[in-house]
Amino acid sequence: MIARIDGETLCLILQRGDDGLAHLVWFGPKNNDVMARAPHFQRLPASPDVPVGPTLHPAHGHGFHNIAQVEAHCHKTRRLLRLKPPEFAASDRQITLNSHDESLGVRVVTTMTFRGDALAVTCCLHNDGETSIDVTRAASLLIPTPDWASRLVTWAGAWGREGHYTERDWSTGRIEQLGRAGRPGFDGGPTLSLLETGANVAHGRWLTAHLAWSGAFRLAAERATDGSGQLLAERLLAPGEIRLEPGASLVLPETVVALSYEGSNGVSRVYHDIIRSEGLRVKRLVHFNTWEARYFDVTEEKCISLAKQAAELGAERFVLDDGWFKGRHNDETSLGDWSADEAKFPNGLMPLIDAVHAEGMEFGLWLEPEMVSPDSDLCRDHPDWVLGWPEAELATGRNQLVLDLSLPAVREHLFLTIAALLDAYPISYVKWDCNRDLYPATSGGVASLGLQTEGLYELLDRLRIAYKVQIESCASGGGRIDAGIASRTDRFWASDTTDAIDRLRVQRAASFAMPTERLGCHIGPSPNPMTGREISMEFRVLAALFGHMGIEANPAHFNDNDKAILMRGLEISKAHRDWMGDGQLLNLSEPGDDPDLQMLVSAGGDQALLRIMRVNTPVRPLQPRIRLAGLDQQSHYELVELALRGDPMVWPLGNFMGRGLMHDGLVLDSARALTGRLIHLRKTE
Ligand code: DGJ
Repeated sequence: MIARIDGETLCLILQRGDDGLAHLVWFGPKNNDVMARAPHFQRLPASPDVPVGPTLHPAHGHGFHNIAQVEAHCHKTRRLLRLKPPEFAASDRQITLNSHDESLGVRVVTTMTFRGDALAVTCCLHNDGETSIDVTRAASLLIPTPDWASRLVTWAGAWGREGHYTERDWSTGRIEQLGRAGRPGFDGGPTLSLLETGANVAHGRWLTAHLAWSGAFRLAAERATDGSGQLLAERLLAPGEIRLEPGASLVLPETVVALSYEGSNGVSRVYHDIIRSEGLRVKRLVHFNTWEARYFDVTEEKCISLAKQAAELGAERFVLDDGWFKGRHNDETSLGDWSADEAKFPNGLMPLIDAVHAEGMEFGLWLEPEMVSPDSDLCRDHPDWVLGWPEAELATGRNQLVLDLSLPAVREHLFLTIAALLDAYPISYVKWDCNRDLYPATSGGVASLGLQTEGLYELLDRLRIAYKVQIESCASGGGRIDAGIASRTDRFWASDTTDAIDRLRVQRAASFAMPTERLGCHIGPSPNPMTGREISMEFRVLAALFGHMGIEANPAHFNDNDKAILMRGLEISKAHRDWMGDGQLLNLSEPGDDPDLQMLVSAGGDQALLRIMRVNTPVRPLQPRIRLAGLDQQSHYELVELALRGDPMVWPLGNFMGRGLMHDGLVLDSARALTGRLIHLRKTE
């Protein structure tokens, strides 16, 4: 028996083997599907008499000791789940696999669907039986790995230092990408890639799994002793968290799998396409954000003055960050009390909003809805609304506690509170922050790790239905960047560092799976508050230019020259942002290379931007040619440099053929530390 589904360029084929099991016999380019064949597992010494190897819906109990799809047992009898090999069938672009344990009455259903070339895999558990079932773990995705997979890539990091590319050997054993803290975190999030030796940004095979889940997760690649491998993605379940009562179901989060034969750029293209197709198309207005301009020291008068300066520079939306609400002077109090501080904003927020509108800008507001300060009216009124054990002391983080979103009353309160703000004020944008992990993730002592994420999703979904408001996902910077929250929000704050050198790394890492126009890229102060580095305005502007631009500094501290450079940068962004929002991002350099080279090529291929960011002085003054990508070989392109200062502001570089630009390239690296260049290409014939 064979089932097949087709994506745009890929196809996936399952076949029932002689062993009666479901084998993934092909996942790759359509034209190579003749390679498909069910593997014959060898009968080895000291091994089961009926050989076992990785299949779909693998289960324990037959001598297979690798990862099983589901681990569960009957709560009453403690009888272990025993899943039979799945039945499967294909229809349209979807394959469905059905496994049963008839004795317990449990059904496990996995669906694999192509959306473009993205393979979306979901799994659902149903308890059709008469007793409750305790689920210990359940994989959203569990597939055998291709035999070329020998390297493993994730990204490492911590607060303010996200996005460190980490490539390792994967020849033996298990490597996990784990997030236990209840939000995806700064340490790479729910993404794991397997690649062939020598694969890079533009060449070689990459297989990536990304779990669309904003809570605790595990991704793992495990190589068994026979050399076969499995790739796993799952939501982490805490002990006792999932008891499936008779009639109940557990829907696991979707995993999106991308496969590229053209390096990591090909993987990014698959993710960008799917995320773009599922999100709203919103205009990326240039932001001014008050945080690094004033931190908690925001008042009506100071903000109106900032708004005027921001508008003069070219900002189109003014975002009032932390510090605006009742009694909030530092991070020790007030989360939960979402009304304007009377001393700072004696007339509410309306005078500021009017001033912002008068400058032609929209207004955005910072909130941290999931949190509460112990020193707040909300916490005093509802001490039982926070996560924790009832009898134990509550562990604070950034002086705050987490509201228990598994409680309907809490979700209702948050919806009504945010709705009241959105009704009272014309707010077009909410910066939704989340500044601590979940610990302990218990609701009155009972595990509620996943319920918290589900509660957040429900709240966001309800708000999105009721209000036309754009939302930014921020979690102390890049602590919550994943496809689960991406379908409910419009933008990510990728990191709390605004240092332009760090940002090149952070934004490149975040743009692996997220389209670059979704990433908030702000021009910060110099010296930078986090790193102390002094970086020219030109470099800072160029570093922000491929993302959703903004200003995150006090304009009063910019000199006239810097202001002119910044304004020119914003002009360029505005002139190109519409096509950039659909463009394909192509990395021309490897992570950590100097210079950092990226191109954005318009969807129709008629224009492109090339950015060259040189951080350090190279050993030699003469630099190799830079070879471009994504162009039409036969077409001609006119290249002009877009300068941020000086006269003229546009420097013609010449007219070249796509083939020459891609095969031989041009010498374009200035070889001078902390300089950048921006080159526009336009197809002429
Ligand atoms: C963390 C965010 O990442 C910052 O941009 C800022 O909004 C602060 N929180 C405010 O507390």
